[in-house]
Amino acid sequence: MNPRKDLITIDALSDEDIRTILDSTSAMKDIFTKSVKKVPALKGKSVLTLFYEPSTRTRSSFEVAANRLSADVTTFTVSTSSVVKGESVHDTIDTLMSMKMDYIIVRHKNSGIPAVIARHCKASVINAGDGSHAHPSQAFLDAFTIREKYGDVAGRRVVIIGDILHSRVARSTSTILRRLGAEVAYMGPSPLVPPTAHTGIPRFTNWNQIFDWKPDIIYLLRVQNERIDTPFFPAADYHQAFGVTEERLRRIDDLNLSIMHPGPVNRGVEICDDAMEYRNCLINNQVENGIAARMSILYHLTPQTQSHD
Ligand code: CP
Repeated sequence: MNPRKDLITIDALSDEDIRTILDSTSAMKDIFTKSVKKVPALKGKSVLTLFYEPSTRTRSSFEVAANRLSADVTTFTVSTSSVVKGESVHDTIDTLMSMKMDYIIVRHKNSGIPAVIARHCKASVINAGDGSHAHPSQAFLDAFTIREKYGDVAGRRVVIIGDILHSRVARSTSTILRRLGAEVAYMGPSPLVPPTAHTGIPRFTNWNQIFDWKPDIIYLLRVQNERIDTPFFPAADYHQAFGVTEERLRRIDDLNLSIMHPGPVNRGVEICDDAMEYRNCLINNQVENGIAARMSILYHLTPQTQSHD
């Protein structure tokens, strides 16, 4: 893999970049099986997590990943910072760069902010989710989870169900899966699914069409109410029309399909309780693999920060 400073989108990566990061994810996961779950790969490097939007999985997973590579990790808590006094993203980054950070992992509600920060500083910038635009580390952990389960991503059929329009996960994950040779389809409420003419991705409107398509994986999304001015559906109506109900779970089980979800999950909306315990539910595998994928991402990026040796 050629030296690469930042990870902003999957589109910006070459096929070789994608394969290198995925291949190393397996090696990173092997580290977890050792009694000492740490390697010195990033010893002496500093990693900052800068999340302007809430996160459970991504932030903690990047922090665990950086710790396992022996980096020094700083968590920037926006709610208790001078951001609440009106400090701009630009000034916050200038301040933090004076502290000589090597990696900045940033989540922001506005699409494009991580790319702006990346242009502005020598640290490696990793996009941990920007608006409806991109979430590349999620894409890597999803692709790795599918590869781990099926041996290869190529040839698999994945239907992504829910609010595609506002989902950075749908955008990044469908991009990486198609680059790796999977077939992807979308299903959800018509106003929340972009037309096939815009994406080249088949668009279904109901579960019968999904079962007829014979997918391997049902990938569920949450409706992103925080990115919609007026919520579209009462939860119960959404569940009946688009969710994995108990009845649909029985069919999914009969067909031996897998279920994935990036989290956070809204039980009773896109997924019923029993589906969380389903034998082919890969949600916990996704979380576990997120650490290994993020270790691999950190390992392969090359900050342009000055050496003071
Ligand atoms: N999948 C994901 O981005 O989850 P968090 O919002 O909890 O980070």
